[in-house]
Amino acid sequence: MNCYNFTHINHNNQDKNRFIHNDEENTEKEDNTICIYWHPTSSEIGLLRETWSDDIDFLYNIGSQIYIYIFEHNPDTIELFPKIHKHGERWKDSPEFRAQSLKFVQTLTMCIELLDKMDRMAENLRTIGEHHVQYAKRGFKPIYWNIFYDALKFSLFDHLNSFIESSDQKYHDIINAWNKLAHYIITQMKRGYVHKLVKEFQEQDDTFSIWAGRHPSFSSATHSKEKKQEK
Ligand code: HEM
Repeated sequence: MNCYNFTHINHNNQDKNRFIHNDEENTEKEDNTICIYWHPTSSEIGLLRETWSDDIDFLYNIGSQIYIYIFEHNPDTIELFPKIHKHGERWKDSPEFRAQSLKFVQTLTMCIELLDKMDRMAENLRTIGEHHVQYAKRGFKPIYWNIFYDALKFSLFDHLNSFIESSDQKYHDIINAWNKLAHYIITQMKRGYVHKLVKEFQEQDDTFSIWAGRHPSFSSATHSKEKKQEK
């Protein structure tokens, strides 16, 4: 069971960096580490900034690799992006794919810029996480958050391998810092997602089971029905 802590968030407390590893549930493919608090050290901030860039080709390269990984490992996910999916086999060459890849990496750029303002980073990530509730009717499932972690690991580590030897201690420090950032991003986005779900539930009158039964986040039957209607 994932463990979220909604009650003890304190971004000013430098000692409370906290990573919860859910080893019981982890499989080789799934990393459910939850990172609620994180205040990167100045060395971690330096390493993360050193390995990121504003160069548009760099950003597109990372963003597109992340989506290619997601779409190739989980082919159903491309249907969540109708503007990309409509291009059929040529989706990789579409302007919409390029635009989505860049939108995605802009979030990572925002995180790199806010490494010394973690409360603002967390707030922005939670807002983006909240936005993803609206994609449930297209078939977005919370499990997809974990795919992002695998995709980021694959694309970014590939990029790091191109300029630093993996035998180097610095390489391990960089990987460690990126791992923490990736877990932090996912944890905050999941929190925004869950927060928005709770809000939607509270704003209607049905019991939880009735509401959950017709909410696309909980019901796969509703997914396919609504997906068909949307098409
Ligand atoms: C933690 C990783 C992720 C980040 C940072 C992220 C970021 C974003 C951003 C910035 C947008 C643009 C619009 C908005 O703010 O609402 C967006 C849209 C979207 N995201 Fe994500 N996302 C993430 C993970 C995922 C995953 C794993 C999926 C599903 C596989 C997904 C599905 C979507 C969809 C369907 C849209 C709407 C695209 C459209 O406009 O048609 N996201 N995401």
